[in-house]
Amino acid sequence: MKPFTFQNPVKLIFGKGQIGKLKKELQPYGNKVLLVYGGGSIKRNGVYDDVMQVLGEAGMEVHELPGVEPNPRVTTAAKGAEICREKGIDVLLAVGGGSVIDCTKLIASAAKYDGDPWDLVTGKASAKEALPFGTVLTIAATGSEMNAGSVITNDETQEKYGWGGPLNFPKFSILDPSYTVSVPENQTVYGIVDMMSHIFEQYFNNADNTPVQDEMCEGVLRAVLRTAPDLMKDPGNVDLRETIMYAGTIALNKFLEMGYQGDWGSHDIEHAVSAIYDIPHAGGLAILFPEWMKFNVEKGTKPERFAQLAVNVFGVDPEGKAPEETALEGIGRLRDFWTSIGAPEKLSDYGIGDESIRLMAEKASVHGPLGNFARLNTDEIETILRNSL
Ligand code: NZQ
Ligand code: ZN
Repeated sequence: MKPFTFQNPVKLIFGKGQIGKLKKELQPYGNKVLLVYGGGSIKRNGVYDDVMQVLGEAGMEVHELPGVEPNPRVTTAAKGAEICREKGIDVLLAVGGGSVIDCTKLIASAAKYDGDPWDLVTGKASAKEALPFGTVLTIAATGSEMNAGSVITNDETQEKYGWGGPLNFPKFSILDPSYTVSVPENQTVYGIVDMMSHIFEQYFNNADNTPVQDEMCEGVLRAVLRTAPDLMKDPGNVDLRETIMYAGTIALNKFLEMGYQGDWGSHDIEHAVSAIYDIPHAGGLAILFPEWMKFNVEKGTKPERFAQLAVNVFGVDPEGKAPEETALEGIGRLRDFWTSIGAPEKLSDYGIGDESIRLMAEKASVHGPLGNFARLNTDEIETILRNSL
């Protein structure tokens, strides 16, 4: 293991019927709340009414920022920050998925920053203070509800970057699995792919002596593999939704990433793809991650690690096989699994051709060689993208 300091201050409130706790959690921060949400799913599934009822009981003055896009835009966050300043907002409440929460994280800091909010995303400036915010999660996927990451898109420059910092932690997050029953089939699949990908990113690291972390990663992956097919057949099953929701949070609240730094290269490649083509984040991951794995096994980047994943998670029998063979068999099983639940396989599934491949590879490596486990140069990223066509 590498030396580490761990802190995660998010108060997690998990379970059916917990929305009433919102009142007690919000009140200490003041009376004026900005409710941030997406394209209207919360109005159709009743979550908006539940939240408004509690805010009403708490006597809060409610302002609203609807319309946060999947792949949230910096312009929307700037609009939210403006409302905060104009109305003297005390506290923010994100009700939605990763996009709404990530946008809220930027609004919270941008409200206290005089310059362009994009500066906070690119690292040109760092937030010195931020408004407090809580979340009500409605889709299991990103883990944003319990981490300090935020991923924001700039349409003008066709860039999409993750940024973070201690001010980005929600004060609290309420996770009611019954709120995710209305998540449509494709978004349910994306969520499953995303949380699995988060664990892969962490699993591929260069630390020694991480048997506890390995078992935790492998265990969560096995539970997701077992649960996902049942959930796809029975999407109204709250117990199955509960398992997936908890897995999504654990997969990226950094509990699994103690003592090492994960790779995270596939995420940067995907962000470059969705920056240009605005495709769903995990749709991109479902295509790119197996190709990243294959590329690295064939290049000889620690094939034993890929083989360990193949055996312990995908049940590959390693008997009489070289690690490379075992590894490739595991990657094949991952591909088949994602295909079986309906995830996309190729960039062409989104109508993406080879016209911007080099540009995407350059965007993914704009900060230098990509990834912590496998350092990839621009040409290598281009190969992975071409293999994904
Ligand atoms: O906008 P609405 O109408 O609410 O609909 C959303 C949206 O269309 C819908 N949805 C959410 N909850 C629903 C629901 N529909 C019906 N019933 C519900 N209960 O689902 C669609 C997708 O929502 P979105 O928030 O975009 O999904 P997700 O949570 O997957 O977030 C994706 C964003 O998070 C970033 C991605 O890059 C992408 O921008 N990520 C954030 C991370 C983080 N902060 O830690 C890490 C991830 O790796 C990821 O990069
Ligand atoms: Zn992700």
